[in-house]
Amino acid sequence: MRIIYDLDEMTETARGWLAGGTVGFVPTMGYLHQGHIALMQAARQECEISVASIFVNPIQFEANEELIRYPRDLARDLQLLSNARIDVVFIPRAEDLYPPDFSTYVTPSNSPWAMQQAKGFGSLIYNRGVATVITKLFQLVRPDVAYFGQKNAQQVAIVRQLVRDLNIDVEPRIQPTVRDSDGLALGSRNHFLTAAERKAASVIYRALLAGKALVDANVRNSAIIEKAMIDLLVTEPLVTLDYVKVCHPDTLSILDIVTPAAMLLVAAHIGKLHFVDNIIWLGGTNWKL
Ligand code: PAJ
Repeated sequence: MRIIYDLDEMTETARGWLAGGTVGFVPTMGYLHQGHIALMQAARQECEISVASIFVNPIQFEANEELIRYPRDLARDLQLLSNARIDVVFIPRAEDLYPPDFSTYVTPSNSPWAMQQAKGFGSLIYNRGVATVITKLFQLVRPDVAYFGQKNAQQVAIVRQLVRDLNIDVEPRIQPTVRDSDGLALGSRNHFLTAAERKAASVIYRALLAGKALVDANVRNSAIIEKAMIDLLVTEPLVTLDYVKVCHPDTLSILDIVTPAAMLLVAAHIGKLHFVDNIIWLGGTNWKL
């Protein structure tokens, strides 16, 4: 496994990709878990060359405190990536990606999700931070395919729009959410939860399943589905609800009536930690959980 810290070395390495076959890229912020590893395995299986990046992107955090508190364990991450037989790990330095004179940002605008100011949807800072860092990483790594988790629906919408709008020749591939046994989506910050909070957190997935049960029973009115999900979420005093929505997965625009491809989406926080999760109804009895 080759480890690259230097931007020029990454660019130089990417220049040589063509001869080696297709390149699959998994951008991460580290502190890896099985959700990340599932993306790595997809990249390994579907592409000749697999590249992962570890970079806690400072410009996508709203509060500096959150950035400082973000968990890090590079030695463990490298061991997991080596076990997953990833070919190249790119670990850029923040001062190299964002030198003092850095001034060109990629700012999503005009899409329903970018306009969402409702609590629980990522802010303009998050949207801009993700769009900017993904554009920079794509330029440096030059992948053919990039892997993202369905869990972060807003990020998926940002990346899809970004590659369309800026004519970036990268195919985003979205992978299923990896969950704990009680349904909670794995996340780097889950370990910050106390035992009681961790137990309460499972209500997020249970709420999604409550919505699913109604869709499966042929309920199509989004308001009814959202109410059932909210009624369950509020039973957990440790969990504060930000947002429950039925929306279109590509645009995150609100759907009043559930139609195939509709996404049930929950955003909530527990203490200062934010959680998002979703499931997608494909029609009939088919779901992406
Ligand atoms: P991070 O939170 O480290 O997540 C990296 C990738 O792993 C994302 O595509 C995310 O959706 C996916 N992922 C996280 N938890 C998952 C789970 N339980 N199952 C499946 N996939 C999961 O998302 C980011 O980093 C950053 O915003 C980044 C894209 C790296 C840009 O800075």
